[in-house]
Amino acid sequence: MLLSSLLAVWGSVSAVHAATLPYTPLPDLFDLTIDDIVTGFAANHFTSVDLVKAYIARIAEVQETLRPVIEVNPEAIEIAQALDIERLNMNKTRGPLHGVPVLLKDNIGTADLLNTTAGSYALYGSIVPRDSTVAANLRAAGAVILGKAGMTEWAFWRSANYTNGWSGRGGQVKGAYYYDQDPSGSSSGSAVAASIGLSTFTVGSDTGGSIISPASTNGVVGLRTSTGLVSRSVVVPITPVMDTVGPIGRTVKDIAYALSGMAGKDPTDNATMAIPFDTIPDYASFCTEDGLQGARLGIPRNIFTAAANRTELDVQQISAFEAVLPILQRLGANITDRANYPNITAYQTQANFNLACNVGFKYAGMDYFKQLRFNPSGITTLQQLINYTMNFKAELYPVHNVDWWQAGVDTNLTLESPEYLDQIALNAWLGSNGTIQGALDNYDLDALVLPSVYSVRPTVYAGYPVITVPLGFFNATTKVIKSTYGPTNATGPGIPFGISFIGRRFDEAKIIQYAYAFEQATQFRYAHLPMPQYMPTTQLNTVRANAPATCPAALGLPY
Ligand SMILES: *[C@@H]1O[C@H](CO)[C@@H](O)[C@H](O)[C@H]1NC(C)=O
Ligand SMILES: *[C@@H]1O[C@H](CO)[C@@H](O)[C@H](O)[C@H]1NC(C)=O
Ligand SMILES: *[C@@H]1O[C@H](CO)[C@@H](O)[C@H](O)[C@H]1NC(C)=O
Ligand SMILES: *[C@@H]1O[C@H](CO)[C@@H](O)[C@H](O)[C@H]1NC(C)=O
Ligand SMILES: *[C@@H]1O[C@H](CO)[C@@H](O)[C@H](O)[C@H]1NC(C)=O
Ligand SMILES: *[C@@H]1O[C@H](CO)[C@@H](O)[C@H](O)[C@H]1NC(C)=O
Ligand SMILES: *[C@@H]1O[C@H](CO)[C@@H](O)[C@H](O)[C@H]1NC(C)=O
Ligand SMILES: *[C@@H]1O[C@H](CO)[C@@H](O)[C@H](O)[C@H]1NC(C)=O
Ligand SMILES: *[C@@H]1O[C@H](CO)[C@@H](O)[C@H](O)[C@H]1NC(C)=O
Ligand SMILES: *[C@@H]1O[C@H](CO)[C@@H](O)[C@H](O)[C@H]1NC(C)=O
Ligand SMILES: *[C@@H]1O[C@H](CO)[C@@H](O)[C@H](O)[C@H]1NC(C)=O
Ligand SMILES: *[C@@H]1O[C@H](CO)[C@@H](O)[C@H](O)[C@H]1NC(C)=O
Repeated sequence: MLLSSLLAVWGSVSAVHAATLPYTPLPDLFDLTIDDIVTGFAANHFTSVDLVKAYIARIAEVQETLRPVIEVNPEAIEIAQALDIERLNMNKTRGPLHGVPVLLKDNIGTADLLNTTAGSYALYGSIVPRDSTVAANLRAAGAVILGKAGMTEWAFWRSANYTNGWSGRGGQVKGAYYYDQDPSGSSSGSAVAASIGLSTFTVGSDTGGSIISPASTNGVVGLRTSTGLVSRSVVVPITPVMDTVGPIGRTVKDIAYALSGMAGKDPTDNATMAIPFDTIPDYASFCTEDGLQGARLGIPRNIFTAAANRTELDVQQISAFEAVLPILQRLGANITDRANYPNITAYQTQANFNLACNVGFKYAGMDYFKQLRFNPSGITTLQQLINYTMNFKAELYPVHNVDWWQAGVDTNLTLESPEYLDQIALNAWLGSNGTIQGALDNYDLDALVLPSVYSVRPTVYAGYPVITVPLGFFNATTKVIKSTYGPTNATGPGIPFGISFIGRRFDEAKIIQYAYAFEQATQFRYAHLPMPQYMPTTQLNTVRANAPATCPAALGLPY
């Protein structure tokens, strides 16, 4: 739906609760937290409808330049209104997410007016059999699904000749910290939207770094969950072996609230049946300022790029990391400096990410098409998806080719082939006892800590959780390097990077606790802001006055 026509419905929605705006100061959309919302609702300073309207206007401010959003939910205002009525007229509050807007990555299925396409026209107009379990959980917790965020098409599972944040449907997502900033990916729009206040929090997915990488590159907090903590049911897959869904937000506490609303067992995703507790923890309760007291942290130094091979970017990220070690110690952490991964060489030479994705997508990806209630493209085989993509203009073939899919067609391996199963088992060993579990056990640690750039793998192979928090920004003399395949700058001054904590499987509470204590003590997100043209102009207290008149029809599709 065009944003302009959505904005036209504003007039027809009457305010449930006549909050007399503006209260000054209302929280800034750049900062607004879930705690601020809970407080603001309780004090009647604003409503969920006000929030949704403000965010829609915010999206319109940056959509033409940064394209972080693919679709705005035509029903968002009505949903917010119903939740306001429930809260104000029926005195019912579902919890901290009640009335809180969320943008979902475009691969998270929703059974509503929104499309779920993983960025591709091959899924445009398709109808999912039901809400994804994660979307249903968020709705039940009271969240308002505001829309779908842009992403690297197919979560970057198409070919290497690809660009972060680009999709056929959404165009090129860009980051807000540098000119034409490569937003990283594949949860690109989710990270950019969180970074500049287009939604209170967002949801992404991570198979091989797709939350950790964009969250750190856009100066926000992101959590790759333990595989199976959040259901992947009715989420466009790459491979169930490594796919995860997780929250992205501006603060650790916000994503802690979000996670409690997303996680849980789901019989339709068997990996969730491994969750070792019956009740999902209240993760926000682990957010305490003294959370690092007595924490046993280790640094797996041997995953860092070797000194001889470090780029300027490695050097800056490592020196920022060294500089905060005394802070972690001051906060009470006991740091083991060389808690190395025991089988680093075996990991680096024998782990095979692409094979797992290749065979996984060939089956799980096609199962996703087959379960659709309506499948306009009619695709049910990988060969048909290749043919569709090669022939549909907006998919930009051959600039972006289909090599990885072709490798999936060409392989003779199935999910039952011993060669495939052996490799998956080897990957799992390399990602656990060979590296993360090995380091945690050998040095008797609670968690690992390292620059985020070195934390995206091997976490994925055996499903370990990792959280990234802002650490620093590339300095003023950082060389600007263009991305190979996209109209973006891959590096440049002012682009953020993060620090990560890795924990044991299903030990999210611990890494949230450590990340929170670090975040509260440092507040690095504020050390450098996005470029001024992307900072909020629309605010909660201005939205009623000027938003409808100034919103361009920014969400028109390119084809
Ligand atoms: C609203 O609910 C709370 C707790 O459920 C209760 O303490 C309060 O009295 C209720 N308020 C009204 C106006 O009913
Ligand atoms: C979803 O796709 C259909 C085309 O099948 C389009 O008409 C509709 O506007 C899209 N929904 C939104 C919210 O953009
Ligand atoms: C489902 O998960 C449980 C718990 O992890 C496991 O024991 C069982 O083998 C799994 N079943 C299937 C069919 O994968
Ligand atoms: C540096 O990179 C080169 C090329 O990838 C590699 O052959 C070499 O072993 C690396 N050096 C170290 C010290 O890791
Ligand atoms: C930026 O970092 C690089 C790598 O550490 C360093 O060589 C350079 O001097 C730094 N520039 C500034 C302005 O600090
Ligand atoms: C850190 O842990 C080690 C190993 O348990 C212990 O020997 C050391 O005293 C601890 N350091 C501090 C500062 O507590
Ligand atoms: C893993 O590392 C341990 C400790 O260094 C070593 O004993 C073992 O042989 C290694 N195993 C493999 C498969 O590399
Ligand atoms: C390939 O795609 C074209 C254009 O979308 C379509 O006309 C043709 O039927 C497709 N061929 C096969 C074998 O699916
Ligand atoms: C993919 O990228 C490589 C390296 O730049 C290039 O040689 C190749 O031609 C590209 N393939 C296509 C189909 O554009
Ligand atoms: C798959 O099997 C066919 C027929 O046996 C063979 O020609 C082809 O080389 C095999 N492909 C691969 C990638 O092994
Ligand atoms: C990993 O190590 C633990 C403890 O040493 C052991 O019990 C377990 O069997 C190992 N797992 C694998 C997959 O080797
Ligand atoms: C990259 O950054 C430079 C400024 O350093 C800017 O001139 C250029 O337009 C940006 N975009 C691309 C795609 O190069």
